[in-house]
Amino acid sequence: MKRIPGNEMLVSPYLDLLLEADPDPAAVRNYLQFCQGLCDLRDDCVAGICVFGPGSDYSGIEIYNVSVASRFRRQGIAEGLIKSMLARAMGPVRVRTGSTSFAALSLYQKLDFRMIAIVSDYFTKHYQEPIFENGIQLRDQIVLERKARSSGH
Ligand SMILES: CC(C)(COP(=O)(O)OP(=O)(O)OC[C@H]1O[C@@H](n2cnc3c(N)ncnc32)[C@H](O)[C@@H]1OP(=O)(O)O)[C@@H](O)C(=O)NCCC(=O)NCCS
Repeated sequence: MKRIPGNEMLVSPYLDLLLEADPDPAAVRNYLQFCQGLCDLRDDCVAGICVFGPGSDYSGIEIYNVSVASRFRRQGIAEGLIKSMLARAMGPVRVRTGSTSFAALSLYQKLDFRMIAIVSDYFTKHYQEPIFENGIQLRDQIVLERKARSSGH
C-alpha cells in the first residue's frame, strides 16, 4: 500500500480510476487539491485507491472516493484500503455515496459505518447527466459515519 498526495493523482492511471467512482471531473480535481490517497498496487497496476481528507462540512475526516479496478474487485482491496485509513483516524469518519451504490453501501456497513442522513435529489441537482446504477436512476445521496474509536481500542 502506498500513500500519495492528492495533487499527484491528477494524472492517469489514478484519475481514470477515480472517475469510475465519481463521474464529475471538476469535483474530483477539486478534492484532490486538499486530500491524500492510499493506493493498492498489484501486478504493476493501480488496483485500488481510497481518497480522504478534511470533512466538507464537519470537523472529522471524510472519504471522498473509493475505487477498485474491475478485474481486482471482490478480493478485499477496498476493505483493506479503508481499514488502513481508519487505523490512523482518531475521530469520526464520514462518507457520501449513492442510494443505488449497493456494493459501496455493503462495504461501508461491513466496516461499521452507519447511515446518518439522506440528501434527497442530490444527484439530479448536481450532475448534468442522469446516472444509472443497477438499473435504477440515482437520485439521492446517503451520508454514512463511523464513530470515533474509543480510547484503548
Ligand atoms: C465498491 C467497490 C469499491 C468495492 O471494492 P472491492 O475491492 O471489490 O470490495 P471488497 O472486495 O473489499 O469487498 C468488501 C465488502 O464490500 C461489499 N461488497 C463489495 N462488492 C460488492 C458487491 N458487488 N455486491 C455486494 N457487496 C459488495 C461486501 O460486503 C464485501 O465483503 P465480503 O466480500 O465479505 O462479502 C468497487 O466495487 C468499486 O470500485 N465500484 C465502483 C466505484 C464505487 O462504487 N465506489 C464507491 C463509491 S464512493
